[in-house]
Amino acid sequence: MVSTALRPDPMGPPVPARQRTEIALRDVCVRYPVSGSTSKTVLSCVDLEIFAGEFVVVLGETGCGKSTLLRLILGEEFPTSGSVTVDGKPVTRIDSRSGYVPQKYSLFPDRTVLGNVIYGPENACSRVLGRIRPSFWRFHRSLKSDARVFLERMGLRSQDMDKYPHQLSGGMQQRVAIAQALMMRPPVLLMDEPFSALDPSTRGSLQEQLHALWRETRPTVVFVTHNTSEALLLGTRLVLLGRHYEEDASRSNVLLDLELPTSRLPFARRKQSPEFQELRERIKLLAYKSSLMNRAEGPVEFPKAADPQ
Ligand SMILES: Nc1ncnc2c1ncn2[C@@H]1O[C@H](COP(=O)(O)OP(=O)(O)O)[C@@H](O)[C@H]1O
Ligand SMILES: [Mg+2]
Repeated sequence: MVSTALRPDPMGPPVPARQRTEIALRDVCVRYPVSGSTSKTVLSCVDLEIFAGEFVVVLGETGCGKSTLLRLILGEEFPTSGSVTVDGKPVTRIDSRSGYVPQKYSLFPDRTVLGNVIYGPENACSRVLGRIRPSFWRFHRSLKSDARVFLERMGLRSQDMDKYPHQLSGGMQQRVAIAQALMMRPPVLLMDEPFSALDPSTRGSLQEQLHALWRETRPTVVFVTHNTSEALLLGTRLVLLGRHYEEDASRSNVLLDLELPTSRLPFARRKQSPEFQELRERIKLLAYKSSLMNRAEGPVEFPKAADPQ
């Protein structure tokens, strides 16, 4: 069981050593049919190797393919060409190693908060043991107490745990959806803009909780956001996606793949650090330049700190 106490963060997490490849995308291309024989390319020539224990943030403007990328890793969708592997195995269906927090929470309306959070492991266990055996009910009790811990960490009070989703605000429902994914203790955690609908103070406290949980158990996280500050606050590595270059199909729409020096700083001091401010400006400038250039002039250089702006 995970402790509810936040651990102090004196040094910030070290960037994980790149020892084992958890997720690999090789030359991945995704095209959707539009009308007749035309198609729209969303991801193009994407090569990405994500190592176990990394916290990778995928940043990019709306429509550049961030959610598509996550769905490929989850196994909800498949590339038009190229390959996706998780833990060395090709992803051919929804992968049991992966926990997923979709952009829009989807809870079971007829189950309580607690019932929603334990749904996955409860179901898996009842398939193996059946519901009659005492061992199932022992497991069930331990699941419930585990779920309470995750829900508390996501800021739910004990009186909310027996409520039904319709009795909660959207922000509260999103917290439940996050606890639901964490409850499975997945080695891979895929999160699609999980905090985007939350007010700033709730967002701040959940960012801190997520970071603390990641430090404690070190899953491999792929976290999608379009918020540069959130990306720099949470990630050990940043992948910046741009829109597909219509003029040159062989060009990848990964604009930048960067280990984040900010991840070596203590979490509480990151936002105020000069590294954070400087990186934020450079990334915003790069994203802006790439959106202006319409990809006709070749790959966009990551501007040096001394670049005149
Ligand atoms: N199933 C689909 N069929 C057709 N187009 C799609 C489909 N899924 C996504 N798209 C299009 O692909 C683009 C990228 O979508 P998405 O991955 O959701 O972007 P993001 O998450 O970065 O906002 C969008 O233009 C979207 O309309
Ligand atoms: Mg999206």
